Amino acid sequence: MVQFNLPKDSEVKKGKYYKADTNAKNIKKVNVYRWSPEDGENPRLDTYEVDMDNCGPMVLDALIKIKNEIDSSLTFRRSCREGICGSCAMNIDGSNTLACTKSAKEVNGDINIYPLPHMPVIKDLVPNLKQMYKQYQSIEPWMQSSKPTNGSEGLQTIEDRSKLDGLYECILCACCATSCPSYWWNGDKYLGPAVLLQAYRWIIDSRDEERKKRLKKVADELKLFRCHTIMNCTNACPKGLNPAKAIGSIKKMLVTEKSN
Ligand code: SF4
Ligand code: SF4
Ligand code: FES
Repeated sequence: MVQFNLPKDSEVKKGKYYKADTNAKNIKKVNVYRWSPEDGENPRLDTYEVDMDNCGPMVLDALIKIKNEIDSSLTFRRSCREGICGSCAMNIDGSNTLACTKSAKEVNGDINIYPLPHMPVIKDLVPNLKQMYKQYQSIEPWMQSSKPTNGSEGLQTIEDRSKLDGLYECILCACCATSCPSYWWNGDKYLGPAVLLQAYRWIIDSRDEERKKRLKKVADELKLFRCHTIMNCTNACPKGLNPAKAIGSIKKMLVTEKSN
């Protein structure tokens, strides 16, 4: 029988344990994935005891407290602290989500935190999202219209504008793409749910004049049709969006275009 083993240097080892002040009454253990390209060591899981009576309510607050008060070497991304920038996306308690909108109380027992899955890690909780951004660039995510606006807004009907609802809110956090099995295995070719939702956002915009070109660009067995409607993406989206539906809409448009 074939046996699959992880390469020795990717095994996650038990890491350091940081005890809280003995006076702390409300302690939550936070287990955090640690890896640095600089020390040549295996990844490890460090445990921090966090005094939640002196900490903000969100998982990101706990991480910031750890960095500020316990271990300044911990590395993670964050910026807005209110679910807008998408930079604090990570895997918390087994699901991809935003650390700044995930309540620590929602997690029963220890809080386990890993980087977004199936992405190369730069350090600790920071994944390398270069590939996804390159794919994002490939769909030309900007308005393409030859109509002169003369400095005014490009107007839409209320109905056309409403077609962008559920799409424009995407913050490109990558929670969906890194939950998608098709993207795990074929991420170099398949565009994945985040980029395809963005592609659809431009395809459906009534002010854009390149719908046909945009559709042609994504109409590819690997770029688009690697989606098997497993729906992990939609379940993972911390903004409540539905990338699987957007992908389905692109597929439907392609069929309609062909039959016209
Ligand atoms: S669709 Fe949702 S999960 Fe995916 S990148 Fe956009 S906001 Fe993040
Ligand atoms: S529906 Fe498509 S994009 Fe979403 S998780 Fe499944 S395969 Fe990936
Ligand atoms: S810090 Fe901006 S989304 Fe969490």
